[in-house]
Amino acid sequence: MARRPYIVGNWKMHGTRAMLSEARAIDRAAQRLLKVEVAIAPPYTLIHPIHREAELIAVGAQDCHEAEGGAFTGDISAAMLADAGAQFVILGHSERREGHGESNDLVRAKAEAALAAGLKIILCCGENAATRESGEAIAFVRGQLAASLPRLPEGFADIAERITIAYEPIWAIGTGNTATPQDIGEMHAAIRALLIEQFGEEQGGDVRILYGGSVKPENAGEILRVADVGGALVGGASLTADSFMGIALAVGEPSDN
Ligand code: PGA
Repeated sequence: MARRPYIVGNWKMHGTRAMLSEARAIDRAAQRLLKVEVAIAPPYTLIHPIHREAELIAVGAQDCHEAEGGAFTGDISAAMLADAGAQFVILGHSERREGHGESNDLVRAKAEAALAAGLKIILCCGENAATRESGEAIAFVRGQLAASLPRLPEGFADIAERITIAYEPIWAIGTGNTATPQDIGEMHAAIRALLIEQFGEEQGGDVRILYGGSVKPENAGEILRVADVGGALVGGASLTADSFMGIALAVGEPSDN
């Protein structure tokens, strides 16, 4: 089954209630682009307000704790996110892996906790500049992803509905540099092969693989046409409705309904 392109905004640590007007504008614009699935991951404080107001777009979080609950000052559980209206959570973002020392094992534990709480996950992977230059990017990302993917309980249904992968080369995040279509195509093909090994042809072939790293309206069309690119994870350019929906427009023509 070919899934709709998935365009996800990662607001990172940006946004107070003043940003709700942008979320509203994104939601309204998304209603004219039904061939694209649009979602935003705002800071925790905006999850519930956006969930209450949004008619179409999904709202998600940018991290969660791996435990169901307990004495973890300052942390948040997957069930709390679901309770606030989150439908998904981004996990293993390089800013968490690097800035908070998150290992593959921890990312895997978080992924398993999020799925158990009923959330969908967007699992991030990507190499740094030194690994890219050394020619080891594909081997590195394969290893990182294989070690971070959740182990699924017997009979787990809807793998491709619940799990999305985001390939985000670290050197492309927030830098204005994007990977070339050829590099993106090679990496996404390698990730696809791994997903098929892990989840079988049918489900692994259907999981969406997003590209992230300096995606903007001007380059989105070219990136999103690359084989096996199922959407984009967008940071800076997701902070205004104009630029974010410019990216969504690059993949989906406005629909009549
Ligand atoms: P960027 O961030 O679009 O600002 O490069 C992408 C991300 O980190 O998810």
